[in-house]
Amino acid sequence: MSRIAYVNGQYVPHQDAAVHIEDRGYQFADGVYEVFAVHQGSLIGEQGHMDRLDHSLSELRIDWPMSRRALSVIVREIARRNRVRDGLVYLQITRGVARRDHPFPADTMSALVLTARRMPSLDKEQLRKGVDVITIPDIRWARHDIKSVSLLPNILGKQQAREAGAYEAWMVGADGMVTEGTSSNAWIVSKDGELLTHNTSHGILNGITRLSVLEAAAEAGIKFSERPFSVDEAMQAKEAFVTSSTSHVKAVTVIDGQPVGNGHVGELTSRMLDLYVDFIEAKGGPKNTATWN
Ligand code: PDD
Repeated sequence: MSRIAYVNGQYVPHQDAAVHIEDRGYQFADGVYEVFAVHQGSLIGEQGHMDRLDHSLSELRIDWPMSRRALSVIVREIARRNRVRDGLVYLQITRGVARRDHPFPADTMSALVLTARRMPSLDKEQLRKGVDVITIPDIRWARHDIKSVSLLPNILGKQQAREAGAYEAWMVGADGMVTEGTSSNAWIVSKDGELLTHNTSHGILNGITRLSVLEAAAEAGIKFSERPFSVDEAMQAKEAFVTSSTSHVKAVTVIDGQPVGNGHVGELTSRMLDLYVDFIEAKGGPKNTATWN
């Protein structure tokens, strides 16, 4: 089956999908994106992704290319046309096509592109296997809450992780605190047994998976704190994991070459994976998605 993409109003064969060379996304990274997970035929966290998209667009003063309702139809349609039962929908909106000039162009329509990709279905055994992370300096700009397509520090960090044989790199601010992974949120269970992830601020991207995990924890009566943790705290943690639409809840068993806890998936991590899957299957995604700063 051939893949189909959506480009500015048209469904086209994936291999022919192209944007103009003066799209500001291409020239300036002047755009935003979302990655939706599709699990067993359902979109996960659609409301959250749309609310976060609205935040990113409004912070950058990029217009919605169409109504939220119309966009939601296209998100479903691109998944359907690509027969994605388990996988991803990628959505990108840029400020549009204009002669290269730094200030915002007048009267330019935002540009919209979507792709969809099948992926193996969520595999708990695989997610519990545990991966390595490394820590690296966070060299990004100061607005991590905006899901900008400007991902150069993230891809450099991910590549550094790969070259070190690790799955992810956790980025560390000048204050020694872990902000997040290059494409995921970072979590630990501290040496005192506290479930921790960075609080929402301009310092992290507030993950839709992160929000689901927090709501699932609250429902199960599991205590957590949303606060920054240091690399030292992470090195002494009992457990660690990452969350994202592509990684779900994935155990981290090594940080900077040192085993986390006993070097195997932690008890709470394992439980959070079960709770997360139950939560998305029952609720479809997080409900508390109105604030993004
Ligand atoms: N990345 N932090 C960063 C920097 C991210 O890029 C992502 C997601 C997350 C997790 O967000 P969510 O749970 O909403 O997927 C946190 C996507 C998957 C990507 O860039 O491919």
